[in-house]
Amino acid sequence: MIIDIVTLFPGMFQGVLGESILRRAQEQGLTKVGLVNLRDFSKDRHKKVDAPPYGGGPGMVIMADPVFDAVDHLRKNGREDSLVVLLTPGGVRYDQTLCQELSKQKGLILLCGHYEGFDERVSQGLSPLEVSIGDYVLTGGEIPAMVLLDSVVRQIPGVLGSAASLAQESFTGGALEYPQYTRPPEVRGLPVPTVLLSGDHQAIAEWRDEKSKERTEQRRPDLPGAVKKKYRQI
Ligand code: ADE
Repeated sequence: MIIDIVTLFPGMFQGVLGESILRRAQEQGLTKVGLVNLRDFSKDRHKKVDAPPYGGGPGMVIMADPVFDAVDHLRKNGREDSLVVLLTPGGVRYDQTLCQELSKQKGLILLCGHYEGFDERVSQGLSPLEVSIGDYVLTGGEIPAMVLLDSVVRQIPGVLGSAASLAQESFTGGALEYPQYTRPPEVRGLPVPTVLLSGDHQAIAEWRDEKSKERTEQRRPDLPGAVKKKYRQI
């Protein structure tokens, strides 16, 4: 999968792209990430890409033309089929289902806004999928783009060590993941639940399933995996 990021701050991505799983995925050729500096498409001799909003108001708005040109450039360079995604607090709420849908795409072009966002004609002209990572406002679309990038890339087959870790994690199946323990069997008086040391795979699977439902019901009753108990524990 090819993921192109159109941003005014490509340097912000060096850290996340250069470490851990995202780095390995690129090294293994499982994903290719391109950084496109929006300023390179400015028509202004000072490389400006923003201007004050028509009608007045605070802040600056990113002009549509450099964004159109950046996307045209990508389209002409093998990204004909990439889905354009615009990160904005006004978009549809990002979740694991949308993440899985995006991971099936051939390519993504992520548009990161800054300041007061994009000229509305970017949305009119490109019909991007507009995505919000949550109901709060960040200073730009770069951190949301990193969230998409990380969550989508780990869905690509071969990126994670085992497919089982994808199948069992939180939100897959609409529930939160069960609690995990590792060595030693007791820490500061806190023991590992005995069932996990029993070697009884069936009992362990049942315990984990129960804990997953219990945790979902307590913390995220809005999720489909929250099975209501008769007597709710407080
Ligand atoms: N840009 C600023 N805040 C954002 C958010 N919550 N989601 C996506 N893009 C954003």
